[in-house]
Amino acid sequence: MSRNADELAGLIRNRAGDEPPALGLILGSGLGNLANEIDGVSVEYSDLPGFPHAGVSGHSPKLVIGMLEGTRVAALGGRAHYYESGRADAMRLPLEVLKALGADRIFLTNAAGSMRPDIPPGDLMLLTDHIDFSGRNPLIGEPSDARFVPLADAYDPGMRTDLLAAAAEEGIKLGQGVYAWFSGPSFETPAEIRAARTLGADAVGMSTVPEAILSRFLGLKVAAVSVITNMAAGLSDEAISHEHTKAMAPLGAAKLERILRRYLSSS
Ligand code: HPA
Repeated sequence: MSRNADELAGLIRNRAGDEPPALGLILGSGLGNLANEIDGVSVEYSDLPGFPHAGVSGHSPKLVIGMLEGTRVAALGGRAHYYESGRADAMRLPLEVLKALGADRIFLTNAAGSMRPDIPPGDLMLLTDHIDFSGRNPLIGEPSDARFVPLADAYDPGMRTDLLAAAAEEGIKLGQGVYAWFSGPSFETPAEIRAARTLGADAVGMSTVPEAILSRFLGLKVAAVSVITNMAAGLSDEAISHEHTKAMAPLGAAKLERILRRYLSSS
C-alpha cells in the first residue's frame, strides 16, 4: 500500500475518529444520495490529495464515514471512470485508503443497461461475475507478483448470499448475472450488445470491473449491484442517454438502499 494511502487514512481518522469502517461503499451514477444517509463526517475529495476529481455529473465527490444501521461504513460518493483519464487504476488510491482505514469488504454499485428482459429498468442485478470487454486492466504496470490476482469467485459468495437474503427479507427482487465492462464513454452499439449477450453477459456498464480487480488485489472482499436504468442498445425503442441514466437511477436506488440497510443491520 502506498505511503500516501496511510497518510490520507490518518487525515481522515483525525476528522472522523479511529474506529475502522467494516465496509467500504462506492456509489455509482445517480446513487450518491445514499452517502447523505450516513450519520458521520464527510471529507471532500479536494481535501484528499490524489483523489480523483470525479468529474461525471450525477456523482458527488466526497467520502462520508459514519454509521448506517449500526455498522460503521465509509462511502465514496463519486468514482473516477477509465474513460475520464485513460487510467484503469484511477480508483486505486481511494480503495487503498478504504483498506488503510480498516475496511475488509467493499460494496460496489453502478448504473447499467440490461440485456435480460426479466431484469428491466428499475430492477437490480447482483453481479455473479464479469467480462472485461475493454481489454484494460488496472494492474498493468504493477510490479509485484501480487498482480496475478485469481478472479474465480471475485464477487464474494458469502456477501452474495447475505445480500440475497437481505433482498428476500425486504421483499425486493434481486436479479443475478454477469456484468460486461465496456470502456465508454460512448454507449455500446446494438451489434456490440448482441455480441456481449451471445458471450454470456447480462448487463453492461462503464465501471466497477477495475474496482473489483483492484479490491481483490488489495485482499478486500467484493460485492456489486447494478441498478438497471435502461435496456442495452438495440433492445428497446427508448433512447439511451446519460440524462436518462441519472433520471432512472433513483428508482432502483431506493430499493438498493433498503437492501443495503437490511444487510448492514444483520452483519
Ligand atoms: N451502457 C453502458 N453504461 C450504462 C448503460 C448502458 O446501457 N446504462 C447505464 N450505464
